[in-house]
Amino acid sequence: MKQDMIAVVDLGSTRNTDVARAVRALGVYSEICNYDVTKEQLLALPGVKGVIANGGPNDVVNGEKIGLSEEIRASGLPVYTFDYEENGRINPMPAEEKDIAARLKSFVFGDCGATANWNMDNFIADQVELIRRQVGDKKVLLALSGGVDSSVVAALLLKAVGKQLTCVHVNHGLLRKGEPEQVVRVFREEMDANLVYVDASERFLNKLAGVSDPEKKRKIIGAEFIRVFEEEARKLDGIEFLAQGTIYPDIVESGTKTAKIVKSHHNVGGLPDDLKFELVEPLKMLFKDEVRACGTALGLPANMVYRQPFPGPGLGVRCLGAITRDRLEALRESDAILREEFAANGLEGKVWQYFTVVPDFKSVGVRDNARCFDWPVIIRAVNTVDAMTAEVPEIPFGVLQKITRRILAEVPKINRVCFDLSPKPTATIEWE
Ligand code: XMP
Repeated sequence: MKQDMIAVVDLGSTRNTDVARAVRALGVYSEICNYDVTKEQLLALPGVKGVIANGGPNDVVNGEKIGLSEEIRASGLPVYTFDYEENGRINPMPAEEKDIAARLKSFVFGDCGATANWNMDNFIADQVELIRRQVGDKKVLLALSGGVDSSVVAALLLKAVGKQLTCVHVNHGLLRKGEPEQVVRVFREEMDANLVYVDASERFLNKLAGVSDPEKKRKIIGAEFIRVFEEEARKLDGIEFLAQGTIYPDIVESGTKTAKIVKSHHNVGGLPDDLKFELVEPLKMLFKDEVRACGTALGLPANMVYRQPFPGPGLGVRCLGAITRDRLEALRESDAILREEFAANGLEGKVWQYFTVVPDFKSVGVRDNARCFDWPVIIRAVNTVDAMTAEVPEIPFGVLQKITRRILAEVPKINRVCFDLSPKPTATIEWE
């Protein structure tokens, strides 16, 4: 079951993931290790064939310059000393990229003698075996949000342990139109999973009534989510494992020891101490596109696997200010129209994220020859690579007109449609 692998040792580079991905693109598995990895730890990595000493600008830690230890250099593993940012360049030119790729290829297959055996079928086969080994005949619990990562984990665990898995889908009432129904259809009906569906919409909306501060709204949604999940977990007997959709960027971004910006990653943490589970995290070594490839290989529908990002607090941060049922309904319906028209006009997959926002102020309009005083809908559409910065792409005017016409005709209590032209920065992608 062992696949060959190349260890990328982080010696202060800001491009560790690019190097790991470049190796994986050659068909060879690769992992990032901290600068202080020991020879023993390196040699214990399954299938390790070589080391890339990945230097860069962050090569001073606690006042000392870091480097690969003599011990590792003398370990017998081939070592390639690499610096993506040589000469201060952050982004190499295309010709240099080609040269870098050629050098990596010659190291990986020539010096290391690695075999290109990293692919999704091998990954799935390995994970199924590892999960079975870890879980044995015990039971596993999974919070299935319907997002890409939790859906792929569910599909993988179903393949590995079938009915030993129980998925809990909490509908907090802030999901998009059709989402809870799709989760139930795909997992309960098509994949025959044990699925507990909890409609907690009323409970969440009651908790959120009158709360207008965005941070408070997020906190209430997060805390209530854990409470509902915990209540469901207590009803189940003999669960020893908790599966999570942690993916590689979650680990790399919160974990590399030389990175200047450390982003903590959040998942279903915060469960009470008496609910102790061992974690099962089968996707923790995959990048997002690999997670999608894994989901596709496991037979999940394309619209689930290629779903655009959706914040945990869901529509709650797009129904601005204190959430009301009428505006939430207007948000859900206008968002569904936007998604339908983007799909019908070939924009799905071309625009990274798009959604509607309903603010908590009204404007004057005219409907059926009479004055009306209703809410506006704001359309947001952005392109980005990493969500840290974002640009607003050009959307064909005819498509925007069609969406506007439909929203004004089909969504009650909306009399105006606006388009948000702001890049990030200064705006964020979401409005709250
Ligand atoms: P911002 O609004 O910060 O959003 O520019 C960047 C990306 O992150 C998503 N987002 C969230 N995702 N929980 C999440 O899981 C959250 O609380 C959250 N807030 C924002 C947002 O949709 C965008 O893709």
